[in-house]
Amino acid sequence: LTEQAEKAYLMDIYKRFPITIKHGKGARVWDEDGRCYLDFTAGIAVNVLGHGHPKLVNAIKSQAERAIHVSNLYWTEPQIALAKLLSTNSIGGKVFFANSGAEANEAALKIARKFGRSQNESKYRIISAHNSFHGRTYGALTATGQPKYRKPFEPLLEGFDYVEYNDVGSLESKMSPDVCAVILEPIQGEGGIVPARREFLEAARRLCDKYNALLIFDEVQTGMGRTGKLFAYQHYDVTPDILTVAKGLGGGVPIGAVVANERADVLEPGDHGSTFGGNPLACAAGIVVLEELTSGTFLKRVQEVSHHLLERLKELEETYEAVVEVRGMGLIVGMELKEEFNALEFATKALKEGLLVTVSGKNTVRLLPPLIIDEADVDEAVEILEKVLRG
Ligand SMILES: Cc1ncc(COP(=O)(O)O)c(C=O)c1O
Repeated sequence: LTEQAEKAYLMDIYKRFPITIKHGKGARVWDEDGRCYLDFTAGIAVNVLGHGHPKLVNAIKSQAERAIHVSNLYWTEPQIALAKLLSTNSIGGKVFFANSGAEANEAALKIARKFGRSQNESKYRIISAHNSFHGRTYGALTATGQPKYRKPFEPLLEGFDYVEYNDVGSLESKMSPDVCAVILEPIQGEGGIVPARREFLEAARRLCDKYNALLIFDEVQTGMGRTGKLFAYQHYDVTPDILTVAKGLGGGVPIGAVVANERADVLEPGDHGSTFGGNPLACAAGIVVLEELTSGTFLKRVQEVSHHLLERLKELEETYEAVVEVRGMGLIVGMELKEEFNALEFATKALKEGLLVTVSGKNTVRLLPPLIIDEADVDEAVEILEKVLRG
């Protein structure tokens, strides 16, 4: 029934797995037949606190009773409180709220262009990496270094160049005084879970300083505790001028954000805006998520569980021919498979065994569990992965 209805009423855009999810609790979800699955997708890095987290649910409920939406014509307390939390827990500076990752990146790109052109008419070039993913809207799509996403929608924006990820020479060769920004993911998520090398991000910082360009880190997938620190850049000690965040920020409620330091604080009234951006419902959710992630031993636990997960997956890598490599940091982990073993088929088999995983890159099984999982959840997931590997 669901499949028929989808064909009749929904655009045929998503390759969906063949289940309908009704509800979730913690790291588990249930389908319409009452079957339970261990959720190692978490809405693609969104449900950081898992499903049905009581504090998050209560905050959303009580905010909904007070005011679901208030326009940016007025001030609201949740928006100011969340901006303060985001700023003080990241690079400092000021926040603009959007509703998604793509929109956060659009805002970052507009900031970059205004920053550049206010110095010099020809300073508008933006550099991104091959194999990157920054979203589906025109600016974010142009920055996305994967022709398969871009081609059908050309012509795209002017003034973008692409460099090899993790290749300092490639980046150096494209830098010039005409560059206003470099946008990079500290770990390429959709590109197959490819962590940046330290020297690459350090070179990006150095070259942006040399050419007076802004360094933008897209932490839409890697941010919000995903890597075991609040933001991935904190592992590298390389600080961007602009940080973009979305996905996990609202714990499931749509929200995106840009944090920009003083150099990048160039937007003025009328330059940009969003009807829903920073609405009190989304911000009330974001406050709970940030408070939870930064409280007590939350991130330390993510690191411990990550250690266990990576160890167990390395065992699979050593044991099974099909596994080419396990890569990742914290709870963003990829298991690349040999070409003969199709990652999407693998994920479908895992689903049949009760584990939700997704895929990325050429042939990588992608694990993005909620950050609240424990070692027993990891063991359960690895058991299913092993069963699928055994065939
Ligand atoms: C690194 C990165 N940037 C941007 C986006 C786009 O986010 P959204 O789908 O919320 O527009 C994604 C989505 O997967 C992403 O992984």
